[in-house]
Amino acid sequence: MTLLEARNLSYHYTLAKKKIDILKNVNCEINRGDIVFFHGASGAGKSTLMYLLSGLEKPSSGEVLIQGKSINTMSTNTKANMRNHELGFVFQHYGLMPELNVLENVLLPTQMQNKLSTKDAKQRALQLLEQVGLEDRIKHLPKELSGGEQQRVAIARSLVNKPSIIFADEPTGNLDEENSGKIMELLLNLAKQEQVALILITHDTRWLKRGSQCYQVGNHGIHTSN
Ligand SMILES: Nc1ncnc2c1ncn2[C@@H]1O[C@H](COP(=O)(O)OP(=O)(O)OP(=O)(O)O)[C@@H](O)[C@H]1O
Ligand SMILES: [Mg+2]
Repeated sequence: MTLLEARNLSYHYTLAKKKIDILKNVNCEINRGDIVFFHGASGAGKSTLMYLLSGLEKPSSGEVLIQGKSINTMSTNTKANMRNHELGFVFQHYGLMPELNVLENVLLPTQMQNKLSTKDAKQRALQLLEQVGLEDRIKHLPKELSGGEQQRVAIARSLVNKPSIIFADEPTGNLDEENSGKIMELLLNLAKQEQVALILITHDTRWLKRGSQCYQVGNHGIHTSN
């Protein structure tokens, strides 16, 4: 079964009674373990597309199916549950809770699920923190970490519930060249190891050759670019 399918996805907004199209009739299919890159100009609709694919935003028309189920007809509760179990998110601005330490931040998504026991969740979180090289920093607060380190916490957090898809919107947008490279490698390697599909938005076209699918977002649609 296709992991994620977008069917004729369109999104517009209305400004001063004028309809402004952002995306029109977008179709794509993503399977387990796929590495999917979206790139394109600023304002092209990349983040909007990611919000639609992950159910954070409702399409104007069309639908998104995750594991064969339409997320657009799910109740708010069912959708929140599905998102917590099946999807992981990494954003440009890390999105860590400032008052929680590193380990508590990584454990947060496990507190709203019933896949893992408390003990297994902690073991999984510690194992991921070791893989992202932060095993010595588990008691630190986010403000005591560099940007690259904070993003590594966010990556561990995105994987903790064993999701089937990770959405990453410009995960290296706030980092210098060296840290960007490290974070991208980490994401690509962990996605492969965990057999999770990775949906990545990037401005850096040098990474596209590592994708199993690459799309340029523009002219209200997506266009294969590899
Ligand atoms: N509800 C809304 N009201 C007004 N404008 C909107 C709304 N939703 C999206 N837009 C516009 O849609 C366009 C696409 O935005 P989006 O954030 O998806 O672009 P992007 O490709 O992610 O750009 P960037 O590379 O800068 O992050 C932008 O021009 C944005 O201003
Ligand atoms: Mg964006």
